[in-house]
Amino acid sequence: MLTGTMQVNSRQHLEVGGCDTVELAREFGTPLYVMDEELIRQNCRSYVQALKDNYPRGRIIYAGKAFLVLAMARLVEEEGLGLDIVSGGELYTALKAGFPPGRLYFHGSNKTTGELLDALQSGTGRIVVDSFMELEELIELSGRCGTHETGIMLRIRPGVEAHTHGYIQTGKEDSKFGFGLHDGSAMRAVKKALRAGNGLALKGFHCHIGSQILQLEPFRLAAEVMVNFMAAVRDETGFVAGELDLGGGLGIRYQPGDNPPSIKAFVESIADAVKDTARRVDIALPELMLEPGRSITGEAGITLYRVGVIKDIPAIRRYVSVDGGMTDNIRPALYQARYEAILANRAAEAAGEKVTIAGKACESGDILIEEAALPAVQKGDLVAVFSTGAYCYSMASNYNRNPRPAVVFVRGGRPKLVVRRESYEHIIALDEL
Ligand code: LLP
Repeated sequence: MLTGTMQVNSRQHLEVGGCDTVELAREFGTPLYVMDEELIRQNCRSYVQALKDNYPRGRIIYAGKAFLVLAMARLVEEEGLGLDIVSGGELYTALKAGFPPGRLYFHGSNKTTGELLDALQSGTGRIVVDSFMELEELIELSGRCGTHETGIMLRIRPGVEAHTHGYIQTGKEDSKFGFGLHDGSAMRAVKKALRAGNGLALKGFHCHIGSQILQLEPFRLAAEVMVNFMAAVRDETGFVAGELDLGGGLGIRYQPGDNPPSIKAFVESIADAVKDTARRVDIALPELMLEPGRSITGEAGITLYRVGVIKDIPAIRRYVSVDGGMTDNIRPALYQARYEAILANRAAEAAGEKVTIAGKACESGDILIEEAALPAVQKGDLVAVFSTGAYCYSMASNYNRNPRPAVVFVRGGRPKLVVRRESYEHIIALDEL
């Protein structure tokens, strides 16, 4: 499962970005999120290059929900990508990092009035409208602000079902997101948006069919459905959309058996589907946007944990407890997600036993990995769990009043602390007696 700059060094320790993980744990404590900055940048560049090679005009937009902190927003800006945000908090983070507002894309199915106002006033590049109520409110607010033109896109449900976990299917017909194609609400929304006025300009359409998708077919299908919809809109209203944002969703490798398409193959296949369909329906190629989150940061992250209590239940299993768990990685408990781990301090040793890696939360379901194959584990060993760079820190909690871990970017042998570890003072900081 070693990827990016990860390797086993001469001390038989796991090394990332030229940094020894045993040293990182000593310096920054555990649990610790460690992110391979070089791999994140390479992934950004692979996307940008693949789009450039396969399509005349477009933009890669990083989906901040996967992992967003000031340093990440800065990195995304340096790599020239756009940024997908879904809340006032993500907008605030982006602006505080100096991210250019014109490259922000504001998504979400229930943006609050305050969030819409913040978006309008900050000059957020695109607001991706998700419902009739939002469109009406936006027209009203934008009339009241009366500042500059704001570009909007409409989120469409293409009705494509991707084979992934049920909780993260969002493109199917029964979903809280977007305007339905089949019930006619998408076309009605277009007509309403075209009449909006008040400085709002309809730029195009958006869809997102799900996450951790390991096949290309659903993406091609969604691209085809969306370009066909563009043609239907042109035929019915005369409006030719200039922008098409096909969302994110490319899966990553969580386990050795996972075999996701490469970034290059993913972009190429979507670009081809858009070009082929556009030719067939004779419509000008829209600017093409893609919004990857997980496939940019996921495999670049590992989490380091210190082993504490080891407990044998005879003839059943051995529990190896670590100093984090569902509070820093909710995905096993929430999605039955499977992860792979090694002992970072004895990285070259062959696996000798199968153990259950348990978190420290007061909850039987706080199991990080069942049947993890590891060398004979001892108290004090350092466990590294792979592919935790997306949707782990961003979904972390303070359950049991556990402080959230620090995040370190590593590159060229130098660690850079990008999020400090929470302290107990942080835990009570907002409490009132
Ligand atoms: N664009 C939109 C509008 C989205 O809703 C999402 C993810 C993305 C882009 C990025 O998708 P990605 O490339 O990361 O698959 N918490 C879940 C994942 C939820 C994804 C929600 N939307 C998990 O941990 O698996």
